[in-house]
Amino acid sequence: MHRLNCGDILEIGETRSAFSLRDERRPCLLISAGVGITPIVSMAYQLAFEGAKFRWQHFARSSHLSDLRDALSLARFDANLTVSTDIDRYRVPAKVESLLTSDNSPDEIYVCGPAGFISAIREAATRLLPNTHVYSEAFDPIQSPKDSLPFFVRLMRTDISFEVSGQQTLIDALESNGVRVPSSCKQGICGACATRVISGMVIHMDEVLTDSEKNEENLMCPCISRGEGTLILDL
Ligand code: FES
Repeated sequence: MHRLNCGDILEIGETRSAFSLRDERRPCLLISAGVGITPIVSMAYQLAFEGAKFRWQHFARSSHLSDLRDALSLARFDANLTVSTDIDRYRVPAKVESLLTSDNSPDEIYVCGPAGFISAIREAATRLLPNTHVYSEAFDPIQSPKDSLPFFVRLMRTDISFEVSGQQTLIDALESNGVRVPSSCKQGICGACATRVISGMVIHMDEVLTDSEKNEENLMCPCISRGEGTLILDL
């Protein structure tokens, strides 16, 4: 984006979302913290519109609350929404556990916020719900691809080979070798860069591909995932 000039023409792709409501409705708990409210508020509008059963727990610093209420007209969710200003790292998971064990406990959770917040909520929630019923979106990558071991890459269709250093991501190395892969988040959370692996050992670090996409469709996210030894890619 920073290399664009006034008047450049851009091709816009379809919208993508790696964090949206499942098609099947089950009683759910929405959890947000700080700017993690952004996707959650849309989910709340949708669920309220459908008359679906849900509760929404938002964590925020007190100084931001009145602005938030005015800006988003949160009052319309008053029956469903609880806002907590207690963001203590030990008490937040305990609060979530109490919501999960109360009457009307939910069957699934959608959570969005900083990476550390999401990890804490996931850990608490998966003690009481199956991992597959806890959906999350982080704004920061949960794992860093930097300072890892180097590995080699061979591109089958373009017949290019190169080494990816320990300080480089695979997608950056591809770009330096003139191969552009579609991308968006570059954090392993959107799936836009998913690329087929022909052979080699992949160290998956993304938060978006399913087990079957990794193991049966042989996909990897080169923006964050790495290889060991030599990877052969379908590029
Ligand atoms: S660009 Fe989003 S997962 Fe790779």
